[in-house]
Amino acid sequence: MSGARIIWLLLYKGSRRHTVCQGFTRGSTTQHPTQMFRGFVCRYLTGPSASRCTALLYRKHGDPAQVVQSESISLPDVGARSVLVKMLAAPINPSDINMIQGTYAILPDLPAVGGNEGVAQVLDVGSQVKSLEPGDWVIPRDAGLGMWRTAAVLAEGDVISLPRDIPLLSAATLGVNPCTAFRMLTDFEDLKPGDTVIQNAANSAVGQAVIQIAAARGLQTINVIRDRPDVAKLTDSLKAMGASHVIKEETLRQPAMKELFKSFPRPKLALNGVGGKSATELLRHLEVGGSMVTYGGMAKQPVTVPVSALIFKNLKVKGFWVTQWKKNHSQDEGALRTMLDELCSLIRQGKLTAPDCSEVGLQDFHSALDIAMQPFTSVKQIFVM
Ligand SMILES: NC(=O)c1ccc[n+]([C@@H]2O[C@H](COP(=O)([O-])OP(=O)(O)OC[C@H]3O[C@@H](n4cnc5c(N)ncnc54)[C@H](OP(=O)(O)O)[C@@H]3O)[C@@H](O)[C@H]2O)c1
Repeated sequence: MSGARIIWLLLYKGSRRHTVCQGFTRGSTTQHPTQMFRGFVCRYLTGPSASRCTALLYRKHGDPAQVVQSESISLPDVGARSVLVKMLAAPINPSDINMIQGTYAILPDLPAVGGNEGVAQVLDVGSQVKSLEPGDWVIPRDAGLGMWRTAAVLAEGDVISLPRDIPLLSAATLGVNPCTAFRMLTDFEDLKPGDTVIQNAANSAVGQAVIQIAAARGLQTINVIRDRPDVAKLTDSLKAMGASHVIKEETLRQPAMKELFKSFPRPKLALNGVGGKSATELLRHLEVGGSMVTYGGMAKQPVTVPVSALIFKNLKVKGFWVTQWKKNHSQDEGALRTMLDELCSLIRQGKLTAPDCSEVGLQDFHSALDIAMQPFTSVKQIFVM
């Protein structure tokens, strides 16, 4: 048994000796008795040796720099169908920021722990837990669990195991962006080797996963990025991942595109993570009858679809949300498992790597959140606990 596990089990066993009732403790101050986090019921504690963890939480929506704080909070008992986990690593994604700002489509009850994605290791399991055992790596099945913390007690059904032979950063960043890329390349067009996909925000984590999964399937990709001082370096790194072409946003409106399509089939699929003019430009280059799938709106501008694109090119304009896909398939264990297995297989073969990550400790959350919200960073901030 590892030292870390022994320490956590001791803490956890210690907490069992204390009276527990519903509520929320912050240090020694008791707050709103009815508040609880999903998967993490916060309790009053009656003694000093109860089990606790450090969490980045927010009590109101707003600027993450202002509203997120690091607090020591209590862990509940491990119920019959729950597991005690130690968090290992958890990234900061745009949706985490939007959730804190209060602009995301789903918002947890407040106070809430930040972070929707990450990998944890099981330390202890309840008496009726069948699918997990101590030592397993797990990731959330769904958004909203609150992963920016050192430990948690989670329902068995809220997590799914991952093999432990993949790199930690790949595991921590697998459940959202690669799954989104995988589904968008699979579910909207019947793509064959040699077909083309065009995407904007190509240097995003989703974009990098699209490039790599597409390359593994023999698909060609046209990857649109914003201009920047080190654009050549970024271009080279995306090409090293398997990008067929990397172009700047401006190029989408230039004659160079016509030249490109003399030697390249027009894309059947466009993936839009930006919106605004960028999305309209992607549409202009699609093959007749092709699809544009919008999954993100980083420019915070609506998508404008020219009438001619609908009438004369019969383009399909659709959206994708991985959270909804997971909800729709929550009763179909095999669907999520099959996708994760395929992605892990690509990781083992060296065909799918984690996005460039900057590893930070939870205590450095202020600067990590600040960097995560800056443009042109191309590096994902990831908490390593
Ligand atoms: N629908 C879904 O299921 C789903 C799943 C996963 C992610 N998403 C969404 O996908 C998007 C990307 O997520 P991620 O984790 O991959 O992001 P990320 O790695 O943090 O990268 C952010 C990307 O957004 C670009 N960007 C930022 N501000 C922009 C602006 N004003 N105009 C154009 N591009 C801008 C960045 O480009 P620069 O380098 O040029 O700044 C970068 O490519 C987010 O909107 C996220 O919410 C959706």
